[in-house]
Amino acid sequence: MDLFEYQARDLFAKHGVPVLDGEVIEKAEDAAAIAERFGGRAVVKAQVKVGGRGKAGGVKLAADPADAVAKAGAILGMDIKGHTVHKVMLAQTADIKEEYYVSFLLDRANRTFLAMASKEGGVEIEVVAEENPEALAKIAVDANEGCTEAKAREIVAAAKFPAEIADQVVEVLQKLWTVFIKEDATLVEVNPLVKTGDGTIIALDGKVSLDENADFRQPEHEALVDHAAANPLEAKAKAKGLNYVKLDGEVGIIGNGAGLVMSTLDVVAYAGENHGGVKPANFLDIGGGASAEVMANGLEIILGDADVKSVFVNVFGGITACDAVANGIVQALELLEAKGEAVTKPLVVRLDGNNAELGRKILTDRNHPLVQQVDTMDGAAERAAELANK
Ligand SMILES: Nc1ncnc2c1ncn2[C@@H]1O[C@H](COP(=O)(O)OP(=O)(O)OP(=O)(O)O)[C@@H](O)[C@H]1O
Ligand SMILES: [Mg+2]
Repeated sequence: MDLFEYQARDLFAKHGVPVLDGEVIEKAEDAAAIAERFGGRAVVKAQVKVGGRGKAGGVKLAADPADAVAKAGAILGMDIKGHTVHKVMLAQTADIKEEYYVSFLLDRANRTFLAMASKEGGVEIEVVAEENPEALAKIAVDANEGCTEAKAREIVAAAKFPAEIADQVVEVLQKLWTVFIKEDATLVEVNPLVKTGDGTIIALDGKVSLDENADFRQPEHEALVDHAAANPLEAKAKAKGLNYVKLDGEVGIIGNGAGLVMSTLDVVAYAGENHGGVKPANFLDIGGGASAEVMANGLEIILGDADVKSVFVNVFGGITACDAVANGIVQALELLEAKGEAVTKPLVVRLDGNNAELGRKILTDRNHPLVQQVDTMDGAAERAAELANK
């Protein structure tokens, strides 16, 4: 999960990384009192989870409280690379002398953690890496040793930071490492890390990604989730414990097992090429034990998606045999109809594997007007795509 800058700033402050005072608002008029508190001047910063805010006009210096209200008003509602600005952070202004770059990240390719640092901060680090790669130091950090003082000195030396700030940066790096480890982050980035007029080092902009696999031991991270931005169908599916991802096509997909569902997305996308370019509308893995209730929950989410025109249920019976899945489908349709949610979209069902014959018979006997059976995966994908294109 990527965090907003203000959330990253809060985590930095919690672990002792030097930051400036900042406050988040959603209404422009609230900017005046905050700017007043900062002594009149403030930097107004768009809070969106996308880079290059400054270039897009989302970071502006306000000269006085009235100006802060005006600048906040201009930035709120702005669209930055497809992200609407709903919040701005007002930050104290820094007297910037130099801008640097530092980060810690998970280096998956090399199976280690990595520190990156550069004297050329403030600008997009991808550009530095591209045009002037020797200006970006990359130092592996051993997971067991962590960023010790010696390691921090090695990073500072590799990045050729000026001697007079070395001690401060060493301290900041160790604190950022604490953020990285204690918060279970996969990325902690400061761009720019600045030197101010009086020689102080401050983290002026922060980017943090948290590892959601560690949520179970990070109860406080729940509060950082941006529920407003979550897709409502995904939020509903999550609440029901379903593995669901909304996509932008027309064919709803339900399958058992992530691998089968992934390949179902492929065959549907392929079949769709002959049927007006229809595509999968979602990923939904109902897992091994596809009970009637899980099937009903899955169908409810998918049928509730206005984009869905047809549904492809692709099940390979294993431990949960096809007859159980077929009963699940029948009961799911009955459950939904009992709830008053009339099912109006066609379902194409392909059952194979354990007890496939029996499963197919259950559906044939039930003879639901919207349920069609196709024996092969490719054939069913073809049929579902065709129905979605009608
Ligand atoms: N509090 C501040 N005081 C003075 N100048 C600031 C302050 N915050 C940011 N700036 C200036 O604005 C520039 C851009 O700010 P920042 O790094 O926060 O946004 P960005 O890099 O454009 O956004 P992103 O990190 O999303 O790409 C900084 O490099 C710095 O020069
Ligand atoms: Mg930045």
